[in-house]
Amino acid sequence: MPTFRYKLIAFALSAGIAGAVGGIHAMYVGFLTVSGTFELTVGLYVVLMSVLGGARHWLGPAIGAAFITTLLYAFISGGEAMIGRAIVGLTLILAILWLPDGLLPAIKKWRLRSRTAGDRPIAEVAPVVTAAKPVGERNILEVRAVTKRFGGLQALAGVDLEVREGEIFGLVGPNGSGKTTLINVISGHYPLSSGTVAVDGVQIGGLAAHEIARRGVARTYQIPRPFVNMTVLENVTLAATFGGKSRSSAEMRDEALHWIGFTGLSGKADVLPAGLNLHERKFLELARALAARPKLLLLDEVLSGLNPAEVDSAIRLVRAIRAQGATIVFVEHVMRAVVELSDRIAVLNEGKLFALGAPREVMRDPRVVSIYLGKAYAA
Ligand SMILES: Nc1ncnc2c1ncn2[C@@H]1O[C@H](COP(=O)(O)OP(=O)(O)OP(=O)(O)O)[C@@H](O)[C@H]1O
Ligand SMILES: [Mg+2]
Repeated sequence: MPTFRYKLIAFALSAGIAGAVGGIHAMYVGFLTVSGTFELTVGLYVVLMSVLGGARHWLGPAIGAAFITTLLYAFISGGEAMIGRAIVGLTLILAILWLPDGLLPAIKKWRLRSRTAGDRPIAEVAPVVTAAKPVGERNILEVRAVTKRFGGLQALAGVDLEVREGEIFGLVGPNGSGKTTLINVISGHYPLSSGTVAVDGVQIGGLAAHEIARRGVARTYQIPRPFVNMTVLENVTLAATFGGKSRSSAEMRDEALHWIGFTGLSGKADVLPAGLNLHERKFLELARALAARPKLLLLDEVLSGLNPAEVDSAIRLVRAIRAQGATIVFVEHVMRAVVELSDRIAVLNEGKLFALGAPREVMRDPRVVSIYLGKAYAA
């Protein structure tokens, strides 16, 4: 989605509401002075209203405002006003100490916890039953002479690659060799410095990330970045909402539930991301990417940090995704998975394509071993 545009609209809307309220307040009070409007207490009350109710829930500030206003008006006359202010001050201290997220999120968390109490199954992916489609002849991704510079640093120095439809394509290389950068320029996260990228025959180099996503490219991030205040289901529904055609909210929820089940997270749909382990957070990232129904899926180290059993389940999952018809480019350091999964692999080194071919041959190539482990091990 065009995040800049949405953030700008959100900012304009909230600034507009605040401006309108300021106008109403001025009419209500009858006069305005700079010192009266900009003194510390006005700002403090506004902050307390949202802190108390919960700034991240639309109803939170309303609840906070109702509470504070009632309190201040209850103690309006002379000496009593001081008591009102003292109670407001005390509330602020207590809210910051005990309810840093506000009342509403605290209630929501408490309700989720009581509902999700008890043992829940750990993410488990069912083995694929559908036979994988054979790799097609058509190129779904064509990368030509792609370069990316960050100031004086050449992260990609002219990379050429083709990925065929239905292929699982492994992208490996030592740390800092440009793997993530390649995914970032294909998905539009960073603009290209030069070169071209085509997906399904359409040039996408230079398009904004959301335009590229609309053309069927989805990606995961090396470090999972879910929305921490939304449940697993809400996180995936959001991706389904912006990922595809416009549908009813019930349909999008079903779509999200489908991908949550597909990635083995069914038991965790109502859990907040903080309640997931690393393995499950990585699968949530995958479920979000899948909810956009991509033709081409770019995975950045979804297996790193997983134990051997979790790697097995992730390998099954990647195969299941391919069986559904997606093409997968994945960056990985777990060599067992690279060799088991990939149809072909490309090795990057210092921003250049170093080797390309069948996984076992490439990984046995002494030149490839030497860039990973140094020349001494290559023999
Ligand atoms: N936003 C950025 N600004 C400046 N330099 C960057 C940026 N992103 C990446 N680089 C640099 O580009 C080079 C390639 O980085 P990249 O993250 O693509 O490596 P990688 O192959 O994904 O490594 P790893 O296996 O450690 O994830 C590195 O030297 C890195 O420091
Ligand atoms: Mg990387």
